[in-house]
Amino acid sequence: MPLVGFSKTAPAFRPPPTGKRAECSCHLSATGCHPLAIPWRAPEGEFCSVLSVPGGQRWARQAAVTPAKFPSMILVTGATGQLGSATIDFLLKKLPAAHIAGLARDEQKATWLRAKGVTVRLGSYDDAPSLAAAMQGVDKVLLIAGTDEERRVQQHQNVVDAARQAGVGFIAYTSRTLKDRATMANKLMEGHFQTEEVIKASGLAYSLFRNVLYMDVLPQFVGPQVFDAGIILPAGQGRVPFALRREMGEALANALAAEGLPKPVYQLTGRASYSFADVAAALAELSGKPVAYAPAEVSAFAQGLKGRGLPDVVVERITGFITDIKNGQEDEVSPDLERLLGRQPASLHAGLKELYQL
Ligand SMILES: NC(=O)c1ccc[n+]([C@@H]2O[C@H](COP(=O)([O-])OP(=O)(O)OC[C@H]3O[C@@H](n4cnc5c(N)ncnc54)[C@H](OP(=O)(O)O)[C@@H]3O)[C@@H](O)[C@H]2O)c1
Repeated sequence: MPLVGFSKTAPAFRPPPTGKRAECSCHLSATGCHPLAIPWRAPEGEFCSVLSVPGGQRWARQAAVTPAKFPSMILVTGATGQLGSATIDFLLKKLPAAHIAGLARDEQKATWLRAKGVTVRLGSYDDAPSLAAAMQGVDKVLLIAGTDEERRVQQHQNVVDAARQAGVGFIAYTSRTLKDRATMANKLMEGHFQTEEVIKASGLAYSLFRNVLYMDVLPQFVGPQVFDAGIILPAGQGRVPFALRREMGEALANALAAEGLPKPVYQLTGRASYSFADVAAALAELSGKPVAYAPAEVSAFAQGLKGRGLPDVVVERITGFITDIKNGQEDEVSPDLERLLGRQPASLHAGLKELYQL
């Protein structure tokens, strides 16, 4: 298809080879090139657009169209949560908002999505009819794990069933990476692995994104007194290839927006494993204050938590997480995150600098 209504001040459009992004380039003209000359994609095909040219005109120019290679709609659940919103932010850099929908259970929390042009589908993992409606016209779903650990497998089953019944072609799920599922101390992880089985049994094309512990949770692990009291945890010399949640969101967006289907299994981890001694050393270097790591006994640590009034179930959860770290369950580095990002993920030092704003 030829360029439509080409003019001197318009950026020239180069039709992309199949599967490649289009390029806009400016012709020399009286008004010169405009920095906002960008290629973008819409359901109908490829466009070059300039939102505002120096003369004050507004136009968007349709250009040669290659058949759309993009999913008509990607639905991200948990869109009002931290990983879901990071994923949508990165999807918006790759696709027009018209291709992106977010599932939200709280309309108020989804206001920012609407403001960015993202379609908001209201629904809950507990409410099958709302999920059925949310899946209409969707061809890829990213299921962000729910937060209700007691009910999450049934909730995820509801999402998978709704996707299958609506004819969705592909589902991705945010699972967890742990070395040996048979010897995990943290039984809360089982819901992730049961969900993986639900998805495999569904007959849908799928990708399981097995995510490492977010680096973002380190401040909760080491506590607010870390710069005065150091780090006291029963994590031994256990190591974790921590990764930033926003980089996981970026990787998910890259995988979802790519043509074709992603791999069945990814392990999203940092590129090196770190112990809590490394965390202490990085915090000391960044803050200029002495921060030491003292490994604790798990029973004494659990007693300390109970002494602070934490319920048994919470104590069990926290000690389970840390025992798995001590036992090396999280100590597995994969190149998947780096490959999906197209660059090295943030190191521990860079990540802590960002998280603590040091
Ligand atoms: N790898 C790790 O270190 C790590 C750490 C923490 C959590 N996780 C897992 O990763 C998931 C995403 O992390 P996150 O940081 O984005 O958590 P988050 O900020 O708490 O987001 C969870 C999202 O799920 C939505 N949700 C929960 N229950 C729902 C339901 N019944 N129906 C519809 N939506 C529901 C929440 O909706 P609202 O916004 O309405 O609450 C929220 O948008 C968590 O759910 C958890 O399973 C992993």
